[in-house]
Amino acid sequence: MTVAGRTLGVAIVGCGLVGRRRAAVAAADERTVVRAVVDTDAAAASTLSSETGAPASAEWEAAVLDRGVDVVVVATPNAFLVPVAEAALAAGRHVLLEKPMGRSLAEAERLARSAETSDRVLKVGFNHRYHPGLAELLEVVGSGRLGPLVHVLARYGHGGRPGLEREWRSDPELAGGGHLLDQGVHLMDLVHGVAGLPAEAVSFLRTAVWPIAPLEDNAYAMYRYGDGLVAQIQVSMTQWQNRFSFEVVGRRGAAAVEGLGGSYGEERLVLTWRRVEGGIPDVTERPFPGPDASWAAEWDDFMGAVAGGRPLRHGSPADGVAAMRMLDAVYRSARQGEVVPL
Ligand SMILES: NC(=O)c1ccc[n+]([C@@H]2O[C@H](COP(=O)([O-])OP(=O)(O)OC[C@H]3O[C@@H](n4cnc5c(N)ncnc54)[C@H](O)[C@@H]3O)[C@@H](O)[C@H]2O)c1
Repeated sequence: MTVAGRTLGVAIVGCGLVGRRRAAVAAADERTVVRAVVDTDAAAASTLSSETGAPASAEWEAAVLDRGVDVVVVATPNAFLVPVAEAALAAGRHVLLEKPMGRSLAEAERLARSAETSDRVLKVGFNHRYHPGLAELLEVVGSGRLGPLVHVLARYGHGGRPGLEREWRSDPELAGGGHLLDQGVHLMDLVHGVAGLPAEAVSFLRTAVWPIAPLEDNAYAMYRYGDGLVAQIQVSMTQWQNRFSFEVVGRRGAAAVEGLGGSYGEERLVLTWRRVEGGIPDVTERPFPGPDASWAAEWDDFMGAVAGGRPLRHGSPADGVAAMRMLDAVYRSARQGEVVPL
């Protein structure tokens, strides 16, 4: 499928880990072709240029104005996400913006306003929602089968890497936040996906091992909702064995995803159904082996909105802002040492 019989041209801005991953998915989709690759690091741009056949450049300003470009994927360090996305929307391009939606809630809100006044699709890249186990968990929770929710318990972490203090992620100006913002934003988005926006937050942040102060390498946060539901989140860069775990507990049962594939271990969905008479619950466990299909599934959702006019299933500007609002409350609570409203 193409738009008006035309294959859509894609510019990849930021040719690092994620830009390359997005480029491979766009190149494999018959609706899209990679037309430009941009990176301030000439070697990164040149590598992706030879992988895609698209010309390389160092300046995103020209790429977003290129008439052969319909869609811009922004996968730069966080400081450039919002400026590039704003310019691309203003030039009439559809935008897939990597998470987080900028460095701060204010940046996210500014970009959401730009998207509202454009007639183009802005999608925030939250690939986790497209992992098959998490997609099914979201469906189970959405169906109401778990009953009223009691709590959510989420953990996400890796063990860092030597020299990470020299990476852009450790520069407060380029990153906007520490590990909470980097990996934690996925958990905020998932909590928002199952329960909506909480009423209040309390948190502790810590820089325990890695020399990245004032940025945090560990974050411990709790949210409370109006109906009493509590969501607990731990995000860590001292999780020596990579770990992902997301559990939603309701009055009638629970749904949990363990693992995300690869170094996080095989993704598994565990559904637990309480017996009203007590005793051992019914438990079903479903593994999702195989390669990570979330990036292609997310691209398909994006293309459905761009080329098919369908609403985005996930990662709308409102979803992006909600996750940033949740992060903002955690940072405020840690600074103020008290429970804060959202
Ligand atoms: N969805 C996910 O699970 C996921 C995973 C990792 C990263 N991300 C996000 O993707 C983005 C990129 O992360 P990454 O891990 O690919 O980082 P990376 O360091 O591997 O790549 C970033 C690239 O951007 C380039 N760059 C820097 N400034 C630029 C500019 N002004 N114009 C063009 N290119 C520029 C760098 O040279 C580098 O090649 C971040 O926003 C990050 O939060 C998302």
